[in-house]
Amino acid sequence: MTENDLEVVFSAGQLSERIAELGAEISRDYRGEELIAVCVMRGSFVFAADLFRSLDADLRIDFLEVTRYGDKDVPDEELRVISDVFHDVRGKHVLLVEDIVDEGNTLWAVKRMLEGRNPASLKICALFDKPARRRKPVRADYVGFTIEDRFVIGFGMDYKQKYRNIPYLAAVKKR
Ligand code: IMP
Ligand code: MG
Repeated sequence: MTENDLEVVFSAGQLSERIAELGAEISRDYRGEELIAVCVMRGSFVFAADLFRSLDADLRIDFLEVTRYGDKDVPDEELRVISDVFHDVRGKHVLLVEDIVDEGNTLWAVKRMLEGRNPASLKICALFDKPARRRKPVRADYVGFTIEDRFVIGFGMDYKQKYRNIPYLAAVKKR
């Protein structure tokens, strides 16, 4: 696959403008509160780096790396925690930062796991939402862009672990 096979869905400029708006909204909502923001690895690392720098908040940053076993056909619950959060989230306000909500399985499982630790609150911020494919009843409290059902890459997101470094959101051109 080359650059010619790709189509720009959102440019770097469009993404940074929207992320600044999300940052302002989240900063307002958590004013006066301590917040633990959790970057759900790996796809979210680019978005999280931008979002965190746009937050004016009493902020602690954390990371959680999860993966779903094998491929698409495995049971939803089989989420493997590769690396857990550093902080004890009990009694804390927690914001999960995700790249994209697709079927919702990943977020649903992560949310359940963290809710079991009794945080003061747990909210979700996702840069992209693909509601068409949702299988689990999970919704993000903050959404950057709602997109159609199309596989996207770049801005942290991969296809077979490649293309995460593309600085905009891309989709493979329809032939
Ligand atoms: P879900 O469990 O189906 O909601 O999938 C969530 C995870 O799958 C996201 O956090 C992404 O890492 C990945 N994912 C979902 N859709 C896409 C896509 O269009 N491109 C790249 N990765 C995706
Ligand atoms: Mg992800």
